[in-house]
Amino acid sequence: MPTPPTTKSVAVLPGDGIGPEVVDAALAAVERLDLPLDLRFGDIGWDCWRQEGDPVPQRTWKLLEETDTCLLGAITSKPLRETEDELVPELRGTGLHYVSPVIQLRQRLGLYANIRPVTDLDDGRFDFTVIRENTEGLYAGLDLHGLDGALWEAVRHHPNAAASGPEHTSVTLRLQTRFGIDRLLRFGFEHARARGKSLLTLVDKPMVLRNSSNHLRERLELIAGEYPGIETEILNVDAVALWMVRRPERFGVLVAENMFGDILSDLGAGVMGGLGLAPSGNIGDHGSYFEPVHGSAPSMAGQDRANPMAMLLTVAQLLDHLGLTVPGEELRAAVRGVARARTTVTYDLGGTAGTREVAGAVAGALAEAPRSAAPRAAAARDAAARSAAASVDGAAGDGGTAADEVVDRLARLDTASVSDALDSLGLPGVLAGLAARVPGARTAGRAYTVTYRPVEDTGSGFRNAANYLDEVPAGSFVVVDNGGSTDCTNWGSLLTAVARSRGARGTALFGSARDIAEIRAAGYPLFSTGVTMVSGKNRVELAATGRDITIGEVTIRPGDVVVADDNGVLVVPAGRAAEVADRAERVEATEAAIARAVADGTRLDEARRTFGYAKPWEGPARGTGDA
Ligand code: NAD
Ligand code: IPM
Ligand code: MN
Repeated sequence: MPTPPTTKSVAVLPGDGIGPEVVDAALAAVERLDLPLDLRFGDIGWDCWRQEGDPVPQRTWKLLEETDTCLLGAITSKPLRETEDELVPELRGTGLHYVSPVIQLRQRLGLYANIRPVTDLDDGRFDFTVIRENTEGLYAGLDLHGLDGALWEAVRHHPNAAASGPEHTSVTLRLQTRFGIDRLLRFGFEHARARGKSLLTLVDKPMVLRNSSNHLRERLELIAGEYPGIETEILNVDAVALWMVRRPERFGVLVAENMFGDILSDLGAGVMGGLGLAPSGNIGDHGSYFEPVHGSAPSMAGQDRANPMAMLLTVAQLLDHLGLTVPGEELRAAVRGVARARTTVTYDLGGTAGTREVAGAVAGALAEAPRSAAPRAAAARDAAARSAAASVDGAAGDGGTAADEVVDRLARLDTASVSDALDSLGLPGVLAGLAARVPGARTAGRAYTVTYRPVEDTGSGFRNAANYLDEVPAGSFVVVDNGGSTDCTNWGSLLTAVARSRGARGTALFGSARDIAEIRAAGYPLFSTGVTMVSGKNRVELAATGRDITIGEVTIRPGDVVVADDNGVLVVPAGRAAEVADRAERVEATEAAIARAVADGTRLDEARRTFGYAKPWEGPARGTGDA
């Protein structure tokens, strides 16, 4: 059950090279999101190694223990020889042993899944995730130069080893354990399910690494049985490299051994447009940290040249992880907008702007989004957004900043609780007959209304009826009225890509959609009355945008808050949104209190009486501590 927002603590470790620059720029840009975060800065990296002989000092481990998650800039590591040479003289020759700090974090904190999303920021053509094993494989640390005992026994019959002798032979072992494989595969399937992806690709080399690959295959076959809706395949790592470049849209979730995943995630970054765009998160059962895929790029450090977008998208991924999905999506939409416009971008995207300038442009885009603390100013600046932003401003009794926060609160709530809250106020709201087409979606946004009308087919071709999407402000929930028709569609994969790139939060269609598999693969929240493959392009035309829409007994006005999840779609009138959110939060707190009491041994009837199940919306308020 979603919990109300509370302040989360984040350890910020800027690290080396361009790390501090991109961290500073990104944190400055998100300041205006007013995030409920307590940032606590700490040390990590090359200087810690040189001065203290430990790239992750004890005080940093302590900070990581005390905080909810961590944001890491980048660190510099160097090969064996330089690593010893650069220690301060008094530490040289003392037997200190260097292990990359990021590998230490991943292994010691058990952060076994490294999530590296690869998305098309321009037109949403591809959107897949590399999930990299993060604690074993070729990174297990079983890497030796000079062999003896059982290891030498194992390799001595290889003619090259025999010709070199044990001292001049080196070996790296790819460690794969049932424990490690199973938890990674389950994580991959859960990720696919949550993102509405129907294909999981296991990346391996089964024709060469025959036994270890067969081990993986057996576990995959077994665990796939727990996820009947998700198709699986095993592909060769080299072929995946090819297809990632040629047909990135074919992938959903890729699961890969540590080293394969390292290489493929840089390739994925290249497919996106460069390392300056690729975010990542390292996740375990009891911890996490977030960092861009790129490193410290020493040759660029201190020049205000590095692209901060990878770091900004990393912050968005961190926000998602903390349950702050609405600001996370707003931040992603702002980055997409700036990247797509190409007017204020760094050298790697063909521009001349500096790190801080790009971050400033993203901050500006955030200010213009409809959630912004100043919708009036946004409306004045952005003519395209004018109708929606102005209607939000005018209709919302909550007004100003509260109107933005309330969407965030409603997005966190289950539609079941919101529906109970609407009932308690005697308000209708449920859009009858609209069903979720992409499982696992949970979203809310301000209604941007679109009305279609039927036409006689003149035979003169398609009518470009959906060009309105160019005008949809980021953060909108697109509500389309085609009279509930199941005869033809008003929505498909192309519109999904455009809506997504405009930062729309979802689409509710009083009518039908097509291209459902692609929309699922894109993970875009779509709700509709029906599904058909028949085109609406020569059967309907756009009648209006910004007009009230009535579905059953519910009227949706532009700027109302649309809330949707697997249960369906409902609409909260803009002027009642805060009241409804408050009641729905109380409903959830009451239900949680009942569930806890029952788990502690109380009878259900007694728990319901104690916590006032008959009127749960009168239950404990958010943040009172007695929830
Ligand atoms: P790198 O990712 O630091 O840089 C490779 C190249 O990618 C750069 O030369 C640059 O052309 C481009 N690039 C990277 N980040 C960019 C950005 N934000 N904007 C624009 N272009 C960008 O990889 P590397 O050169 O192999 O390694 C440099 C150092 O970083 C090494 O010490 C390495 O160990 C370390 N490293 C750390 C991490 C990490 O902290 N997670 C990851 C990779 C590498
Ligand atoms: C990454 C980096 C790290 C890795 C290095 C710095 C150890 O390349 O995060 O992808 O190989 O995992
Ligand atoms: Mn890497």
